[in-house]
Amino acid sequence: MRHLLSVDDLGREDVERIMFDSQQLMMPSNSTTGGTRPEFCAALLFLEPSLRTRLGFAVAVQRLGGNAVDIFAAKFHSDMSAPESFADTLRVVSDMVDVVIVRTAEPLSRAEVSPLCSTPIISGGDGGGNHPAQALIDLFAVRRAFPAHRPLRVGICGDLNMRSARSFARVLANCRLEHVSAFAPVARLATDIAVDGMPIETQTDGLDCRNLDVLYMAGLPERSGKGTLDHGQRQRFALTPVEMARLPAEAIVLSPMPVIDEISPECWSDRRIKVFEQSRDGVAVRMAILRYVLCH
Ligand code: CP
Repeated sequence: MRHLLSVDDLGREDVERIMFDSQQLMMPSNSTTGGTRPEFCAALLFLEPSLRTRLGFAVAVQRLGGNAVDIFAAKFHSDMSAPESFADTLRVVSDMVDVVIVRTAEPLSRAEVSPLCSTPIISGGDGGGNHPAQALIDLFAVRRAFPAHRPLRVGICGDLNMRSARSFARVLANCRLEHVSAFAPVARLATDIAVDGMPIETQTDGLDCRNLDVLYMAGLPERSGKGTLDHGQRQRFALTPVEMARLPAEAIVLSPMPVIDEISPECWSDRRIKVFEQSRDGVAVRMAILRYVLCH
C-alpha cells in the first residue's frame, strides 16, 4: 500500500518517475486512465480550507476517468455533542473508496494511518509541516524551467514554518539541489528546516534576489502562532520592483499561493513570475501522483 504523507515517502526514483509522468500528462491527448482503475473513486477529506489542492485533485481525478467525492458532512467536529473520532472517520472513508486525499491541521503520521486505511492516503497538507503534493508541483515548475541535475541557486522567502516551505526544502534536499538560501524574519525562522546533507544559509535582514535561479515566495502572514509582524518587517521580505530588478534575467519566481501582498502589484507583469503556470500545471502533477499511488 502506497501512502503519500511526506516527501520522505519518496525515493529519488519515485520523484523522477512522478516528474516524467507529469510531463507526459501535460499533453492533453495523454489524459488517460493509464493504469489507474477505470471509474475509480477518490474522497476529498479536507478539514481545513483549500482552493488549489482540493480543486486540483478533483480535476485530476476526473481527467483520469475517476469520480471525486467531496466530504462535507463528517461528524468529528469537537463542538458536536457526540463527535466521531478522526481515526474512525478516516477508516470509514478509506473502506469505501480507492484513494483518500486528506488535509488536516494535525500531523498525519504513517504509524497512525497505516493500520486504519485499506486504500492509499495522499496528504493534501497537514499540521506537521508536510505538503508533499505541493512540493512535487513546485519541483515540477523548477524542472520545466531548468534541466534536471543542473546546479541551481534556490531562495525560499517568507515564513519557514509553513508546510509548503518546509516540504519544498525537503524535496530539494532529497534531490540534492544545492545552494539553497532562506530569507525570513527572525520570528519566522525554523531551525529544523535545514535538512540532512543540505545546509540552508539563512538571511534575516531581508530578501536579496541577486544570484538566484529560483525565488520561492512561501508566504509571510501578518499573524501566526509565532506572533505578529508589522508592515515594515513584512515589506523587507516582499518582492518589490527594486528586488525584481536584481533578479537574474533567466530566473523564475514561484509560490504555492495564495499570494497576499508578498509580491508587489507592479511586479506581476514580469515574465519571470511563473506562479499561475505553476498552479495550472499542478493538475498534471496530481494526476501523476494519483497514478503513482493507485498503480501499486
Ligand atoms: N498551495 C495550496 O496548498 O493551496 P490551497 O490551500 O488553496 O490548497
